[in-house]
Amino acid sequence: MKIVTHSRLNMQTTLTDSPEEAAAILKSGRIVAFPTETVYGLGAGIYHLEAIRKIFQAKGRPGDNPLIVHIYSLEQLAEVACDINPEARKLIACFFPGPLTLVLKKNSLVPDAATAGLPTVGVRCPSNPVAREFLRLSGCPVAAPSANLSGLPSATSWEAVYKDLDGKIDCVLRGNPSSIGLESTIVDCSGSKPVLLRAGAITFEQLQAVVPEIATNSNTDKHAPPKSPGLKYPHYAPKAAIVLCQADEINGGLLPSSAYIGLSAPPEGISRFKLCLNLEEYGRELFSFFRTCDAEDIDTIYCELPSNQGFGRAIRDRLMRAAGKK
Ligand code: TXA
Ligand code: MG
Repeated sequence: MKIVTHSRLNMQTTLTDSPEEAAAILKSGRIVAFPTETVYGLGAGIYHLEAIRKIFQAKGRPGDNPLIVHIYSLEQLAEVACDINPEARKLIACFFPGPLTLVLKKNSLVPDAATAGLPTVGVRCPSNPVAREFLRLSGCPVAAPSANLSGLPSATSWEAVYKDLDGKIDCVLRGNPSSIGLESTIVDCSGSKPVLLRAGAITFEQLQAVVPEIATNSNTDKHAPPKSPGLKYPHYAPKAAIVLCQADEINGGLLPSSAYIGLSAPPEGISRFKLCLNLEEYGRELFSFFRTCDAEDIDTIYCELPSNQGFGRAIRDRLMRAAGKK
């Protein structure tokens, strides 16, 4: 009998453009990074406990941080979640497939290894066509965190995944860069009323239009459901220091090796900058800009803080976390 050891991390990482090949690797109990519209995910079949363990090991992820379960169809939703309340059903009808994760009561079939022992499960049905084909061919729900080393910015291209995880994972399914670039909106629907846990491309205003009773994490009381365990860890942080600002605040005192990203014109004299035309471009480019700056040994990245409206809320959230202010 062939004995496969999973503890070593110097494994061969296959690069492929074929969802069939990637799904076959996943079905054999190995771990596969794949594109989604938000960020790249690092997946294991939910019933492959050893593969789930390998995900935590490859990323250096704390064991108490649950994984999101990715589904292809509403049949798979019934396989992973139960007691789905009317608010959750409305959100599913409006926003699945898409960049929304719902925290629901977990079906007992879902192994504790995927949910870090929680009685709930985060469920997402991505809309990216390559992700959908990969999930369809995988034939089972796929547990997947973002495909980056823990604590670093999420990967929005296959190249970024490969840089972080080459030799630590079995396969990268190559697709286009992520069209949104920030992780999914997370809404907890396991309690008496929905609570926004993480802002994303499905905005609070869009959610409110469907479930007016939705609360944000900050305005719930002490009886509210627990926050997302992952949100207590430092996140999205490049090596460079992040300074949050309005563009007109940063003209003086620029370091020679500093960079800028934002919607307003960059300050004079700055050589590395990304001027974004709108919030969508800002969100799409943010993590890739962080990674570019790190590759160039930039010391400080000045980031314009958008207002808390619409998609601006998600960008603000990631910037505040990257700056250690959240
Ligand atoms: O867009 C996304 O959501 C990407 C793609 C790959 O789907 N995934 C992603 O996964 O961002 P990750 O693991 O980097 O972030 C998931 C967050 C973590 O903060 C985790 O704690 C939270 O979701 N989460 C997962 N299951 C949860 C649950 N049952 N209850 C509360 N929070 C949960
Ligand atoms: Mg992550």
